[in-house]
Amino acid sequence: MANPSLLILAGDGIGPEVMAEVTRIIDWYGAKRGMAFDVSEDLVGGAAYDAHGTPLHDDTMARAQEVDAVLLGAVGGPKYDALDFSVKPERGLLRLRKEMDLYANLRPAQCFDALADFSSLKKDVVAGLDIMIVRELTSGVYFGEPRGIIEEGNERVGINTQRYTESEIDRVARSAFELAMRRGNKLCSMEKANVMESGILWREVVTRVGADYPEVELSHMYADAGAMQLTRWPKQFDVIVTDNLFGDLLSDLAAMLTGSLGMLPSASLGAPMANGRPKALYEPVHGSAPDIAGQGKANPIACILSFAMALRYSFDAGGEADRLERAVEQVLADGKRTADLLGEEGVEPVTTSQMGDAVLAALDASL
Ligand code: IPM
Ligand code: MG
Repeated sequence: MANPSLLILAGDGIGPEVMAEVTRIIDWYGAKRGMAFDVSEDLVGGAAYDAHGTPLHDDTMARAQEVDAVLLGAVGGPKYDALDFSVKPERGLLRLRKEMDLYANLRPAQCFDALADFSSLKKDVVAGLDIMIVRELTSGVYFGEPRGIIEEGNERVGINTQRYTESEIDRVARSAFELAMRRGNKLCSMEKANVMESGILWREVVTRVGADYPEVELSHMYADAGAMQLTRWPKQFDVIVTDNLFGDLLSDLAAMLTGSLGMLPSASLGAPMANGRPKALYEPVHGSAPDIAGQGKANPIACILSFAMALRYSFDAGGEADRLERAVEQVLADGKRTADLLGEEGVEPVTTSQMGDAVLAALDASL
């Protein structure tokens, strides 16, 4: 059988640096675990705009549809701020999500013991935290029509539309329930059913889907109260399911509970392909961090852990994903810190590639 295929879109800013460390880990799996991948690389975001005048070339889009999984670094940077909205780097990412129909965005927020002091919250609030936000990723206000800026009388009006069909809510709810079954059997759905009709429908459909998952304890929360509860006592949650925009906000909030955005991976999953694997894109939650790009300061862990998610969700290799996650944990426990994780006096930061070296050494030690 052919090797599974990976398309690497490293993107902009620190994307290429952190992805370089992932490439070494992919090679390690080929050499040491007999898991060879066919890896190809292409451009996305500002890098694609510079080369082709578009943040995602049609050929790249077509390739993304064919491969078993896409690994993405980050997109964007100040160089592209003045570009027209339609060709901004972010549009490349949004097109991938939409056209691959990656409706379930899994964003774990896990607090590593070694970093519990790092959170802006008290240690006992975050120590041992392990929650998963499932964000709907292909609909809602990000894509709803009508949208635009129109003239009305003597002024302009900015318009976006929050829109959800029952089937869109149903499928992301099922993904969240399935995940909850593999974790702590608890799901909290967040919307604004007190002010939005789309929220009323969201709550109704999630409740209906819940009847198929009687083992899972389902609760509902208004998204604003959810944000408050996430900062008050995040450990009350296991899996959270929410829409595209609330998920964008709540996942940044949850990420920061763990101390650093540089630690958090994500998986964006769609429907199963002919070979049974879901359409999938894996990317760190952090952005392109142009202020530190090219200096060897970036933390590659979020991108490395995104590959761990690929092992688990695309390649049915949960044991190997655990191995990689444990290697990262080990490296942190040993005191290795990139600059974003510094706080303790007297600790010298490691570079991006030294962090990669350390993870590879821990992987070797795991054999
Ligand atoms: C995210 C990002 C994106 C989003 C941007 C880069 C378009 O914030 O993945 O959370 O808003 O979805
Ligand atoms: Mg975001």
